Amino acid sequence: MTSPIPFVDLKQEWAPLRREVLDRIGAILDHGRFIGGSEISELEAALAQIAGVRHAVACSSGTTALLIALLALDLRPGDEIIVPAFTFAAPLECALLAGARPVLVDVDYPSGLINLDSLRRAITGRTRAIVAVSLFGVPADFDAICALAAVSGITVIEDAAQSLGAERNGTPSGGLCEIACTSFFPTKTLGAAGDGGALFTDRSDLAERFREILNHGQSERYRHVRLGLNGRMSSIAAATLLARLAGLPPALDARRRIGAIYDKELDALRSSGLYLTDIPAETSPARSQYAIALADRDAAAAALGAAGIETAIHYPSPLHRQAAFAGTQQEGQLEQASRLADTVLCLPIYPGLGSASQDRIIAALHAHIASRPR
Ligand SMILES: Cc1ncc(COP(=O)(O)O)c(C=O)c1O
Repeated sequence: MTSPIPFVDLKQEWAPLRREVLDRIGAILDHGRFIGGSEISELEAALAQIAGVRHAVACSSGTTALLIALLALDLRPGDEIIVPAFTFAAPLECALLAGARPVLVDVDYPSGLINLDSLRRAITGRTRAIVAVSLFGVPADFDAICALAAVSGITVIEDAAQSLGAERNGTPSGGLCEIACTSFFPTKTLGAAGDGGALFTDRSDLAERFREILNHGQSERYRHVRLGLNGRMSSIAAATLLARLAGLPPALDARRRIGAIYDKELDALRSSGLYLTDIPAETSPARSQYAIALADRDAAAAALGAAGIETAIHYPSPLHRQAAFAGTQQEGQLEQASRLADTVLCLPIYPGLGSASQDRIIAALHAHIASRPR
């Protein structure tokens, strides 16, 4: 019996860091600043470097980061926020929580990145922001998105929850537009031992506003100058991230190497109806899942499962088919978002995934496709 291949292997990722993490947590127990410890500013300085921006602001999760970014825009009722229909629910939730009117747009197939024609058609005089997601570790085309937005003074926000460490034309994800938000959910490219998130911007006034909002809108203690919330990151979460920073570049290299092997070894299956995302030449991805698409997705997932390979479906439903978001305004029929939800399948891709496991995954997909009835 061959050993199972998990979709992610966090225990293995953290094992070599155990001593350092415990030491860093011990230091926090000693200094006692569980909130606002020096770990936060140390982490923020490192994150700003990773994203190539002047300001990184740590917060409690990727969702909180998106909410803070939208609250910072001082939205008025009727203001529209454009969100892709195929992504994790957070950007849509945050647009609603911030009191705006979200407008769902379609995505490209099979990349899941925002479709520029749908985006162009969705922009109105009421559009205040576009949240473009760098999905599956591939930065969206922010040159084109920012050019569309600039005409009408619309704020562009990158949801970089899945793309920290990626680049486009040498510019890191997080620094591709005015505001970016990321997540340190444990399975992300830079995952904490718990929840965490961050905002990125070059604008000092925005960074200042983000800091106020994540601390109950306070400019100083008990002076509430704007609506805010508790969006603070804990010192312990920051410490666990600090322990991972040195390992980030080699981990990203490993993810890219495995991605390139999948690209090459699965290429021949395109003629059998397997869809792969073509990574643009100007892009360096940072994938924590390798998304493919195929019509018999469920049968493929079952075949890989029978071979001991765990896969994941991100995401089984587009946002416009979710009960919580019924009635959300949409641009067109969102056909590619629906099609992607019905066909997408994510393969494991992480530094500890050895070449024997990669070979098994590739072989299992080839075997599944060869076994289809003709
Ligand atoms: C695209 C996207 N946006 C936002 C989030 C929200 O991040 P978090 O889980 O840290 O709140 C996630 C994470 O799961 C995500 O994948």
